[in-house]
Amino acid sequence: MKIRNQITQLLGIKYPIIQGGMSWVSYWELVSKISNCGGLGLLAAGSMKSEILEENIVKCRENTSLPFGVNIPLLRGDASELIQVCLDCNVKIFFTAAGSPDKYIDLMKKNNSTVIHVVSSVKQGLKAQNAGCDAIVGEGVEAGGHNGKDEITTFCLIPQLVDELKIPVIAAGGIADGRGIAAAMSLGAQGVQIGTLFAATNESIAHMNYKNAICNSKDESTILTFKKIGMLRMLKNKLSEVIIQAEAEGASKEELLKIFGHKKEQAGILNGDTENGIMEAGQISGMIKEIKPAEVVFKKLLTEFDEVIDKLQTIK
Ligand SMILES: Cc1cc2nc3c(=O)[nH]c(=O)nc-3n(C[C@H](O)[C@H](O)[C@H](O)COP(=O)(O)O)c2cc1C
Repeated sequence: MKIRNQITQLLGIKYPIIQGGMSWVSYWELVSKISNCGGLGLLAAGSMKSEILEENIVKCRENTSLPFGVNIPLLRGDASELIQVCLDCNVKIFFTAAGSPDKYIDLMKKNNSTVIHVVSSVKQGLKAQNAGCDAIVGEGVEAGGHNGKDEITTFCLIPQLVDELKIPVIAAGGIADGRGIAAAMSLGAQGVQIGTLFAATNESIAHMNYKNAICNSKDESTILTFKKIGMLRMLKNKLSEVIIQAEAEGASKEELLKIFGHKKEQAGILNGDTENGIMEAGQISGMIKEIKPAEVVFKKLLTEFDEVIDKLQTIK
């Protein structure tokens, strides 16, 4: 893969492959490894208190001299504290999600940082562009974790974002091999953000039960839940049945929030409670068969991408 484009330039990376920030998954071990491979690793501040974030930034620096970034869900009450930790540690790349970047962009830009916001519709993309973001991640509804309410797929979202926005677009949701990267680039994306595939690597801090559950998945193993309180794609289990039943019976937002609870994601992903915890994962889980070292997974993506591009030349 020899791609030099606005995203590789903006982020100072060799390959436009970003490991998505994943709560309870992407800590310094995975992040530094992906950055060392020439991609961009992102720490998930979503599951960290500020001291843990600081520790992870320090550990990343000890393990890579290459760029890495931090993913910050802006709906967190302590978002500005988390941003301040990054500024104090001289982290220059912010990926923001879940919330509006307007409120925090001046703070994040204090260090001449790069700010990239995750969006799930053209409307949100335009808002991020107007707020002054440098690029956006367009995340389709097939992605693991929290999704947009309009349920737009990656295949439909990316070309519409590319047509409507002036800033570069990174594609996320449903990418786990070289074919997916080539497809995203064909749609006009200048980079990809990959989550679930990297969640099932050795360096992800997630529990083995969760990683094995991904590897045992099929195409229909995930489900969109919590439609009333924010949309979450997770692996089907006992808890997802409870949620779907409650939703079918017309549960109120308050009742659903009670089922969501405080620590269900931690229980499923970090502690390996495969029945009663939330295991966020994307529809592409069905294609992931084995837990491997992140470097092996990353190198395979590069080889597959080159093979796809070569193959495409033959049909010209
Ligand atoms: C376990 C898990 C946790 C995630 N946590 C976050 C998060 O904290 N913040 C965020 O912006 N996105 C989060 N995501 C979304 C990923 O960053 C990424 O955009 C998404 O996984 C891409 O789709 P894919 O799973 O099909 O590769 C999470 C995804 C997974 C699978």
